[in-house]
Amino acid sequence: MTTKEEYDLHVLIPRNELAAIVKGLADRISADYSSGDLVLVCVLKGAFVFLSDLVRLLQIPVEIDFVRLASYGSKMKSSGTIEVTKDIEIPIEGKDVLVVEDIVDSGRTLHFLRDRLSASGARTVRICTLLDKKARREVEINADYVGKEIDDVFVVGYGIDFREEYRYLPDLCYVTPAERTKK
Ligand code: IMP
Ligand code: MG
Repeated sequence: MTTKEEYDLHVLIPRNELAAIVKGLADRISADYSSGDLVLVCVLKGAFVFLSDLVRLLQIPVEIDFVRLASYGSKMKSSGTIEVTKDIEIPIEGKDVLVVEDIVDSGRTLHFLRDRLSASGARTVRICTLLDKKARREVEINADYVGKEIDDVFVVGYGIDFREEYRYLPDLCYVTPAERTKK
């Protein structure tokens, strides 16, 4: 399938497999945090679909907040400089925090965010990511809950964008340069 003339989309993880992955994560999180005061911090925008599926499968009460981070560098790769463009609003002091992220790539975004949340006095800060591109790690960061490890492909759909496109796709796809424009 070709869209916008430039890229081909290929399904990487179909919606039924995504649902099973999210259910598995929700069950583990529910078992691990059975005793209250959990705040989920969703990293905007890419994790919004993942978060909304995840929270509806949890069997424990949670508070939900959002953070938005900007990282400077080329569009397909984050650089070292990260800025908070929308901060959390719920006080997290003394609480357990679980960061909900779409993809860990170089690890720079989550390294920054984890340290920042810990410095705000959270009791614990753990990370739940739908996808992990482990081979691309540049700084050490280990997610506590990983939906699926994937190869170094550029993914879109299920909330994740390429230049703000494709977030609405229900399956997780990856993009390649369109076959007919390849030289
Ligand atoms: P990191 O700081 O390099 O780990 O960057 C992680 C962020 O880069 C993710 O939260 C995504 O927003 C973005 N990103 C990394 N890989 C992809 C991809 O394949 N598609 C879309 N966004 C990506
Ligand atoms: Mg992200």
